[in-house]
Amino acid sequence: MNDLYGPLYRTKKGVLHLGPSEEILKSKWFKPLRNKVNLIFTSPPFPLKKKKAYGNLNGKEYVEWLASFADIFNDLLAEDGSLVIELGNSWISGIPAMSIESLEALLELKKRGGYYLCQEFIWHNPATLPSPVQWVNVERIRVKNSFSRLWWLSKTPRSKANNRTILQEYSPSMKKVLKNRRYNPGKRPSGHNIGEKSFLTDNKGSIPSNVLYISNSISSDVYLEHCKKYNIKYHPARMPVDLAKFFILFLTEENDIVVDPFAGSNITGWAAESLGRRWRSVEKEECYAKASKVRFTNAWEIKRNH
Ligand SMILES: C[S@@+](CC[C@H](N)C(=O)[O-])C[C@H]1O[C@@H](n2cnc3c(N)ncnc32)[C@H](O)[C@@H]1O
Repeated sequence: MNDLYGPLYRTKKGVLHLGPSEEILKSKWFKPLRNKVNLIFTSPPFPLKKKKAYGNLNGKEYVEWLASFADIFNDLLAEDGSLVIELGNSWISGIPAMSIESLEALLELKKRGGYYLCQEFIWHNPATLPSPVQWVNVERIRVKNSFSRLWWLSKTPRSKANNRTILQEYSPSMKKVLKNRRYNPGKRPSGHNIGEKSFLTDNKGSIPSNVLYISNSISSDVYLEHCKKYNIKYHPARMPVDLAKFFILFLTEENDIVVDPFAGSNITGWAAESLGRRWRSVEKEECYAKASKVRFTNAWEIKRNH
């Protein structure tokens, strides 16, 4: 009994627990992490359009359920820690109208947790298939939905962040400017006055915007191949590892602690491990939790073979 919800597997940097996070995050396993977690990065389950046997919620129950994590997250987060939540767009069953339950839940979570909204991000996934089919492909009265939002919340308005760690490659035109050391200074249509000097400094990359273009179209990786080989149900809502890496790099430093309470295929843990961060993940579905281990075991095998 004492070991209820103990580690399902461990890696050099992290631990995955199998079970419900509302219990595990409050258990002895997470006690040592109180006020120490630098980033909670997660994509919670969506409110279901229809109630299903395995217990996902909808309506008011969903709002209450997600908001009930405010105290739990607050207990774990370091004073300068961040909470980043991905919320997809969902539709009301049977009609061409969108559901705002996820947003209501987010607002309630924000209110109860006393969080600041540091910034909102859009993750644009150009590989999204058109859906819902009835409204987009059949009746042609809606367009395809190809983005979801990530909400970056924090206990204080000055949570730890450093955009120097996520610089992007300069555009070809900026590379040319830096190479030729020539730029057209002056007033822009926006009213900004651009001085030449500031634009000729090579900052080793450009500062990203809050619209992230990351394709989620991988049809084969170690995880998928393992699931196919052993006929294991693979996770249907995996996010691209680059999305997790972006926020981990931006909001944490090496050896910091990253937690994902709704880990799915444990992309977050995997991203954290590869960036030298410590991590703790929780997933309540055994098949997803168990299959996620392969991300790490294969990495070790590959390492050993070289
Ligand atoms: C949207 S998925 C996360 C996908 C994940 N980001 C990935 O890339 O693989 C949400 C996950 O939360 C899990 N989940 C739902 N309720 C949970 C709970 N109370 N405790 C722990 N996990 C839960 C679901 O089984 C599902 O795998």
